[in-house]
Amino acid sequence: MRTIDWDEEKSCIIIIDQTALPDKMAVMDICSLEALQEAILKLRVRGAPALGAAGAFGVALLARTIPPMMLPDFVVELKAGAERLKRTRPTAVNLSWGVERTLSRALAGRDIEEITALALREAKAVADDDVARCRAIGENGARLLRDGDTVMTHCNAGRLACVDWGTALGVVRSAIAEGKRVSVIACETRPLNQGSRITARELMDDGIPVTLIADSMSGYVMRNCHVDAVIVGADRIVEDAVFNKIGTYNHAVIAKAHNVPLYVAAPLSTFDFARREKDVVIEQRDPDELRRCGGRPTAPADVPALNPAFDATPMEYVTAIITELGVFRPPLDFGQLRQKLKI
Ligand code: MRU
Repeated sequence: MRTIDWDEEKSCIIIIDQTALPDKMAVMDICSLEALQEAILKLRVRGAPALGAAGAFGVALLARTIPPMMLPDFVVELKAGAERLKRTRPTAVNLSWGVERTLSRALAGRDIEEITALALREAKAVADDDVARCRAIGENGARLLRDGDTVMTHCNAGRLACVDWGTALGVVRSAIAEGKRVSVIACETRPLNQGSRITARELMDDGIPVTLIADSMSGYVMRNCHVDAVIVGADRIVEDAVFNKIGTYNHAVIAKAHNVPLYVAAPLSTFDFARREKDVVIEQRDPDELRRCGGRPTAPADVPALNPAFDATPMEYVTAIITELGVFRPPLDFGQLRQKLKI
């Protein structure tokens, strides 16, 4: 099943609850905006492209759950709910992108019924589109990999971070589909272990060779073992930096020191053409995520702790960005890029 989808019978969102991984592939119905916000905050649904689809389906759900009222009041409610949804997590730009794309198409409707129908139609299009874009990213990125390559990745930029297929892991899947033998080194990704819980699970389920390492081992591994490329996803790409899961910057610096290329695989919905690094808010999460692991304390309960969810990697560390419309090598000039891609 897809990571996030629409359940026609129940008329609600259905997700794979990623907090249950690696033990269980649990499925969860999301029937209200509040439930969706909870799922996003707790990382039941996570990963930038999946959040784009969550934003889109969230608008569709919201339109259905607003109590009966006159059209102007309905539009005010819909816009207010959409704003709340956008603010649930601040760093991945895809969430607000998905909300805005769906809201603007839906508001072309002339009455509540039409707005509601258009919202769902657009949300489904966003989800289908994401799958197609990930496939294209995979094909474009696979050309950068050779038979026998070993790829290091961080966090989870796989099918569970998207609607399906994946971005960074989509590149690996596409290379394997072309007949290349590619293996993966998955960094654990503390504090919430998306690498060990999710990436390791999804690669093993697909029979893709994977070796797990702790985040602090990436220097050792790049120095002493053979790593052909680091491929990561992104939560937001601005002209001067790539925002991704905390720890990406460490790997980027180490990769550059060892002449290992760092590729960022992401759909164009992850690009933020309006901001630069200094303008982006990095989500700060509950320090208990660091002080505890698997429900058990791993530090004194009252030790002060920092827990930024993302970091920014300056463009000079990025070898290339793999998108659905091609591979782009920094330095990037966003003005020229938009002209070239006509976006
Ligand atoms: O906090 P998360 O798990 O939502 O963070 C996810 C990441 O940082 C991913 O690497 C990123 O969203 C790219 S997913 C294709």
